[in-house]
Amino acid sequence: MNTSTKPALTDIKTIREQARRNIEEGAVTSGYSANREVVIKQLNDALATEIVCVLRYRRHHFMARGIHAQAIAAEFLVHSNEEQGHADMIAERIVQLGGDPDFSPESLTVRSHAEYIAATNLSDMIKENLIAERIAIDSYRELIQYIGTEDPTTSQMLKGILAVEEKHADELADLLVDLPSKV
Ligand SMILES: [Fe+2]
Ligand SMILES: [Fe+2]
Repeated sequence: MNTSTKPALTDIKTIREQARRNIEEGAVTSGYSANREVVIKQLNDALATEIVCVLRYRRHHFMARGIHAQAIAAEFLVHSNEEQGHADMIAERIVQLGGDPDFSPESLTVRSHAEYIAATNLSDMIKENLIAERIAIDSYRELIQYIGTEDPTTSQMLKGILAVEEKHADELADLLVDLPSKV
């Protein structure tokens, strides 16, 4: 095995000295190698995306009508609550990184990757949610690739969220298959 490609380990004395510097930065140490401003900006865009998804799913939960609606409306509520959980995790991570989570309603839809489409019938609701999930999946995958190995905690969080978005998309695709046309 070629060990020369492995990064050198820092000695304890240096680690201790580095930890004492800039202690007001909390979890962000001198070993943090990602571009913090870019990561915070991207996380804020992801936060906006999650909030828009919370609102869209919520609207669809209350607006779902018809005999096929009950189970689907319940699913929309579950998704909405899970998107809220993602928003909370992302906001917490932004603060850990020394940033400000942006909850400003004015710029939400501008910053969000996914759109807020009101939709009025069940099949449009499912389709729009599926499209939004597919947008979220691609955005998260790209951000995970951008971060690489430079911020393992953020990367791990995003991978967890990505797995849930994939589950959401899969469930919506199933709902669409089961749905008779014209509902
Ligand atoms: Fe989400
Ligand atoms: Fe989702």
